[in-house]
Amino acid sequence: MPTRREIFAGVMSGTSLDGVDAVLADFTPGAAKSALLAATHVTFPTALRGELLALQASAPDEIVRMGRAANALADLYVHALRSVCLASGIAAHDVVAAGIHGQTVRHRPQEGWTLQINNPARVAEHAYMTVVADFRMRDIAAGGQGAPLVPAFHAAMFSEPDRHRVIANIGGIANVTDLPTKDDVRGFDTGPGNVLLDLWSLRQRNAPYDDAGAWAASGTIDHALLAIFLAEPYFVAPPPKSTGRDLFNAGWLDRRLTQANWTGRAEDVQATLSALTARTLADAVRAHCGGAQELLICGGGARNAQLRRLIEAELPRVHVASTDTAGIASEHVEALAFAWLARETLAGRPGNLPAVTGAKGPRVLGAIYPR
Ligand SMILES: Nc1ncnc2c1ncn2[C@@H]1O[C@H](COP(=O)(O)OP(=O)(O)O)[C@@H](O)[C@H]1O
Ligand SMILES: [Mg+2]
Repeated sequence: MPTRREIFAGVMSGTSLDGVDAVLADFTPGAAKSALLAATHVTFPTALRGELLALQASAPDEIVRMGRAANALADLYVHALRSVCLASGIAAHDVVAAGIHGQTVRHRPQEGWTLQINNPARVAEHAYMTVVADFRMRDIAAGGQGAPLVPAFHAAMFSEPDRHRVIANIGGIANVTDLPTKDDVRGFDTGPGNVLLDLWSLRQRNAPYDDAGAWAASGTIDHALLAIFLAEPYFVAPPPKSTGRDLFNAGWLDRRLTQANWTGRAEDVQATLSALTARTLADAVRAHCGGAQELLICGGGARNAQLRRLIEAELPRVHVASTDTAGIASEHVEALAFAWLARETLAGRPGNLPAVTGAKGPRVLGAIYPR
């Protein structure tokens, strides 16, 4: 009897607030390591992006606004799921489950909670798929950071027996996964990835991001300002640790520009923020991923050529490339990870790595909303 194909969907919308990434993947045992069937990116409509950004901080009537934004998000998730089904000719009922991260509006593991807004019941109803959602809370309940959750997937996809690799996911926030040849998998958030670069670019040039980092490349790194940025205690805190827009936001940047009495050129700030992302990532690799031979970049930051140059300059002995060279396109890694985590949940297997998150033990993650 032929085995049932294990087709899973994954949907990710991260701290960058750029939009929704969705994939369909075939995890049937014996199939290729990651058989990507289809992928799509749906950019957030401007109004929804603005509302999601506003919901990152306390404001009047936020419960009602959150409920409405969650429904709008769920509708985009449904749209993205339908697109990947159409593109691959796979019917919704042949998808075992969709793993949906949701949109983080608060991340407070130190208080015992995190919130990824979504309406998984609405997605199950309208996409005709079983949905797995709310992946982070169980790990936090077990004393963990609830983040990062992608390292188990990175380990399954990218580990090599004789090559010490590090995976760097540069989204709004950047996180690393250390894949040594012998020791345990480790990982943590290193700090800002694109989040400060994007907000400065939007504010100064009305451009949502700095394409290829060209604007940053036209500026000069301000080393006094960089030192002020680097004084942030998060960067030297030992792992396990995770962060988000709760810490790295416009207020964080503005306080430091004020402290520096900054009056220079806007592109120099962009150059300095790029240096901050590159330096904190490289510091994390030097401090916690000793002996790394290869750094594979994924997430939108992989398209920032200037950032890549700065990272290469920081780590001259490490071969820097994108995950594309290891078989998974950089823009698909995170959504694939949530498809894979949904599979682990349905199989009753843990998705967290306690050595990464600091949880008391392995836990089966997420809540299941049957189709
Ligand atoms: N061509 C590009 N040049 C520079 N940066 C880019 C480019 N494309 C995407 N990015 C960056 O990647 C971000 C999206 O990355 P993503 O991995 O989706 O992050 P998140 O998971 O936080 O949503 C964008 O906000 C932008 O900063
Ligand atoms: Mg994104």
